[in-house]
Amino acid sequence: MNFDFNTTHEYAVQQDDADILASFKSQFYYPQHHGRNAIYLCGNSLGLQPKIVEKAIQIELNTWRDLAVGGYFAGTNPWLYYHNLLTPSLSKLIGANSREITVTNTLTVNLHLMLLSFYKPSNTRFKIIMEAGAFPSDQYAVETIVKHWGLDPAVAIIEIAPLKDEKILHTSSIISVIEEHGSSVALVLLGGMNYYTGQLYDLQKIASAAHQIGAICGFDLAHVVGNIPIELHQWDIDFAVWCSYKYLNAGPGAAGGIFVHEKWSSNSDTHRLGGWWGNDEKTRFKMEKGFHAKADASGWNISTTPVFNMIGLKASLEIFDQAGMSNIRNKSIRLTAYLEFLLQQVPNLQFEIITPVSVEERGAQLSLYFKENGRAIHDKMQENGIIVDYREPGVIRVAPAPLYCSFQDVYQFYSILKEHF
Ligand SMILES: Cc1ncc(COP(=O)(O)O)c(C=O)c1O
Repeated sequence: MNFDFNTTHEYAVQQDDADILASFKSQFYYPQHHGRNAIYLCGNSLGLQPKIVEKAIQIELNTWRDLAVGGYFAGTNPWLYYHNLLTPSLSKLIGANSREITVTNTLTVNLHLMLLSFYKPSNTRFKIIMEAGAFPSDQYAVETIVKHWGLDPAVAIIEIAPLKDEKILHTSSIISVIEEHGSSVALVLLGGMNYYTGQLYDLQKIASAAHQIGAICGFDLAHVVGNIPIELHQWDIDFAVWCSYKYLNAGPGAAGGIFVHEKWSSNSDTHRLGGWWGNDEKTRFKMEKGFHAKADASGWNISTTPVFNMIGLKASLEIFDQAGMSNIRNKSIRLTAYLEFLLQQVPNLQFEIITPVSVEERGAQLSLYFKENGRAIHDKMQENGIIVDYREPGVIRVAPAPLYCSFQDVYQFYSILKEHF
């Protein structure tokens, strides 16, 4: 893609003036730095608080105060069906129908539930293929599920690493590992976007390669949902899980999401761990023996809907509906490319951008690898009111989330880098 970027401050101002999403910036609260809004480039870790969340929480507090148990059936958003209020907006973000989505628990718990449903090792088909350097929580989940089945992680887990001296994984390498292990593979499980490098994988191609060898394919979409528009149903992904506190701005520990493709979720015989919130609503309150799973993704719900963990998400999804995911993505592509362009203009700074150059392989994040002084540069940014994230060894992750980051924010990041280093 060709852009007309330049290094003047006027350019950044012009871009903000022309930005159709610019008004969304004022819908969020910012950490304060010497009495001013900090520049927040850390939405890949924890998204900002939308201002409407406070009112949304107050509504549910009032329902609880005024109706108590009656709040399950009455009030502004009856709690019995609260999770259903989230699915229409999420359907649009992830390309799924409402029977394929549920919001419940948090990411790693949901990953365990998916593993228990979809990883059924046999004597011959028992391997799990994942990326080397996957997010630690995913590594722990996979290691422990393999042990749960009495298998040796060193044999059952196949990790795909980048080629020598490279930081990113080629789709062709992923596919060749899948083909190499063939019928011994039970599950291919990847982060849709690597949290460290910011590399977005080709979900559709990977799922297709997994299916060719008869394996199930699932993704951890923590860094994808709300960042990149995806089509999970059409791409024939078997399952996916994500959290809501990054690009979805739903607040720390907010309820996460599960996608289970209709080919599995509509079959109530697909194994689910039972709990009354996943039981058919017609018989849920009969308090009888026998679990009758709902024939959709909400059949994976176990406990009472954690309403107060979902309010931030419901409020934030209203903002996504107003902004439109394709507008968000269009701005994101431009803003991240502008950041990349400016970084390339910084003289004497020894770093490498380890995120792929191609816009198809990245979202609203660039990971900068500093051989030296990474931590010091991160600290200097903090001192100057710019919040970015640092991960050992030497990586600063910079995430200009398009709903609340402007071209001038990115310019300011560049100016400080240029001035101090
Ligand atoms: C890629 C990825 N996977 C999993 C997790 C863990 O999520 P949770 O703590 O909600 O289980 C995170 C958290 O940041 C993450 O970034």
